[in-house]
Amino acid sequence: MANIIDGKKLSQEIKDNLKEKSVEFEKLYGRKITLAVILVGENPASQVYVKNKIKATEYVGFKSLSFYLPNDSTEEQVADTVKSLANDNSVDGILVQLPLPKHINETKILNLIPASKDVDGFLPENVGKLMLGMPTTIACTPYGVAKMLESTNIDFSGKNAVVIGRSNIVGKPMALLLLNMNCTVTICHSKTKNLKEICKQADLIVAAIGKPKFVTADMVKDGAVVIDVGINRTENGLVGDVDFENVKDLTSYITPVPGGVGPMTIAMLLNNTYLCAVRKENA
Ligand code: GUN
Repeated sequence: MANIIDGKKLSQEIKDNLKEKSVEFEKLYGRKITLAVILVGENPASQVYVKNKIKATEYVGFKSLSFYLPNDSTEEQVADTVKSLANDNSVDGILVQLPLPKHINETKILNLIPASKDVDGFLPENVGKLMLGMPTTIACTPYGVAKMLESTNIDFSGKNAVVIGRSNIVGKPMALLLLNMNCTVTICHSKTKNLKEICKQADLIVAAIGKPKFVTADMVKDGAVVIDVGINRTENGLVGDVDFENVKDLTSYITPVPGGVGPMTIAMLLNNTYLCAVRKENA
């Protein structure tokens, strides 16, 4: 029988804990922790994500600054917004929602965020520190997955972990985190041969490939832990990268979609914002 890892419940616990820490922070430093979010354009999925991030920011008692720029903004206009937040000492974290419109260079914009305010953990300095196993800001989605794995109390040391997907936002940092947990890590991607056979050997599968129901029952070992990072919008609503109904009974632990990794990503964003604020006050 599978255990469902309840991301909604776990994220609620993290947020409630941050709510208390936020009060203590304000008492200690006389100001509110502040997160600035920038959304360029009208991508419907991004609009939903940003709305949820702002709602959660306010829930934990942080100050939320939001900047909505039109789709036809120039790169310079977006850059100016980021630069002014970078120089604003009252701002602890800056999040530029991706993807940006095609005419704007994402790397150029992200690199204007100081590493100390990079609540997404996307910047080279933070990714490099993760690679070296140094304390740093960790990308929210893989960090959330790591917290979910921790909640199972399973010792993953020496286990075979397979990450499906090699994005800079999820797959690569996820693989590094699992390596730091002493897993034997394989990263699979669109060019991988024998993907099914590789997955079948896994004690842990993290699916982050963006294809609805990509992980099927014949790819999953009995008793494996399966984490579904996918959020695919289909005619039948939100669907993960895992064929949940057919896979769940094979697993020891599995995450649902929705209500799994998604809420954890937001909780870890707030956690990262808190950590950036505390580091700034103690710098
Ligand atoms: N777009 C999709 N996921 C993310 C995320 O975690 N952070 C940002 N900034 N943009 C995203």
